[in-house]
Amino acid sequence: MRRKLVAGNWKMNGSAESIRGLLEGIKAGAAEVAAVELAVFPPFVYLELVEQQLSGTAIAWGTQNLSEHASGAYTGEVAGPMLQDFHCAYVIVGHSERRTLYGESDEMVARKFAAARKVGVKPILCVGETLEERDQGVTESVVERQLKAVLDLEGIEAFNDAVIAYEPVWAIGTGRTATPQQAQDVHAFIRAKLAEQNPTVAAETRILYGGSMKAANSGELMAMADIDGGLIGGASLDAKDFLAIARSGC
Ligand code: 13P
Repeated sequence: MRRKLVAGNWKMNGSAESIRGLLEGIKAGAAEVAAVELAVFPPFVYLELVEQQLSGTAIAWGTQNLSEHASGAYTGEVAGPMLQDFHCAYVIVGHSERRTLYGESDEMVARKFAAARKVGVKPILCVGETLEERDQGVTESVVERQLKAVLDLEGIEAFNDAVIAYEPVWAIGTGRTATPQQAQDVHAFIRAKLAEQNPTVAAETRILYGGSMKAANSGELMAMADIDGGLIGGASLDAKDFLAIARSGC
């Protein structure tokens, strides 16, 4: 049985003050949605604050990115062992904003996935097609290529300690959500690809949906057979909205 995961990707938003308030709100309502696992992903500089606020609670935390390297002369980067220092449970790798705005290739994303696993931090691997790719009918081949880079480097067993997030780029921050069936089709495709290599791992791997998920659509999305939670951007910045999404997955 796959426990649903509702994860808040805060992106480059928030301040020390707003984050304290947001976490207070989430903590206050977390017990009601205990059937679902909650996780939050602050900007790096607020990691210590988040750890202080969430230690001893059932809410997990992590970061939105990490370096593929473990240490060294990489100005501005943050390494896996540093995430381990702050007890991150998860780290997002290969978010489409990293792929498109910062030129992260499939191979680099795979190396980041490996760097996370090396320090015992579970990667949340983001995959997804652009609108152009969907219109060209190549959604499956794009997602397969993104997945394959990680499978080739790390092997299927690596997904015992990883999560996948399907985030169609055209649905991110646009208010345009994939329909439950559109999302389910891609989730089922991803699971089938994993199953070709190991059906047990495929059956246990959580696949989250991301892209304009909000309380108004999260229930029907999470009711689909292969949708195991959400990776939430905008709606995760409001405790009430974030908890309402989690409630719809209970
Ligand atoms: P929105 O929920 O703001 O569309 O963002 C989704 C996302 O990119 C989460 O990683």
